[in-house]
Amino acid sequence: MNRARAWAQSLNPSGADFNRVQILPSIFAADFVRLGEEIRRVEQAGVGMIHVDIMDGHFVPNFTMGTPITESIRRFTHVKLDHHLMIEDPDTYAPIFIKAGADCVSVHEEVCRNLDRTLHMVREQGAKAGVVINPATPVSQLENVLDIADYVLVMSVNPGYGGQKFIPNSLRKVRELVRMREQRGLDFAIEIDGGVGMENIADVARAGVDWVVAGSSVFHAPDPAQAVRDMQRAAEEALSVRV
Ligand code: DX5
Ligand code: ZN
Repeated sequence: MNRARAWAQSLNPSGADFNRVQILPSIFAADFVRLGEEIRRVEQAGVGMIHVDIMDGHFVPNFTMGTPITESIRRFTHVKLDHHLMIEDPDTYAPIFIKAGADCVSVHEEVCRNLDRTLHMVREQGAKAGVVINPATPVSQLENVLDIADYVLVMSVNPGYGGQKFIPNSLRKVRELVRMREQRGLDFAIEIDGGVGMENIADVARAGVDWVVAGSSVFHAPDPAQAVRDMQRAAEEALSVRV
């Protein structure tokens, strides 16, 4: 069991078996007028982490939230906050989000001129450091930072919007990362983000993903807590059945 995966498992009191795959609800898809209520709902399903999408209108053609929202959520819940920085300048803003309450911070490979330095900086600031790759970015770009990253986030849609269609090639990239992790005896968790729901959670789990981000399939469901439980169960069943 690697370090980041073991850490994530320890967040959920339900026990190791329940938690081989973590579902991270993405609040981007929540109703922001009722954000607290929405977070309480997924807490009821026992989630250990929620996913917070930060967009700057430059790296992606959309905006989301700034540090005041992170601070409010931090005061409201003990659930860990996974921040996905879809921004041009993570070196300036990662420390600010960590100070506001982010536990995990992922930065896009595509914007980091000194990726090694940025990942070290995130860890030095006290957060788990993740590196994200867009659908068009090959896994090979990460070869020299896999020993620094606590987790790798594979985008399974182009970042910027919720509710998009899952890009199947992402699973090939996940399998490649699993292989590299084994071959090199490394230690990072694998996260996937975009277009995951009941229809593909089994494939995602079988490919070897540890952390699954789910936005619309959770918060647009009639009962978000039940949606998390259903996805969690489907992931566990997929891992227990050999096909
Ligand atoms: C997309 C964001 C995702 C988004 C996923 O740019 O990074 O985290 O919330 O939403 P769904 O699960 O609806 O594809
Ligand atoms: Zn995201």
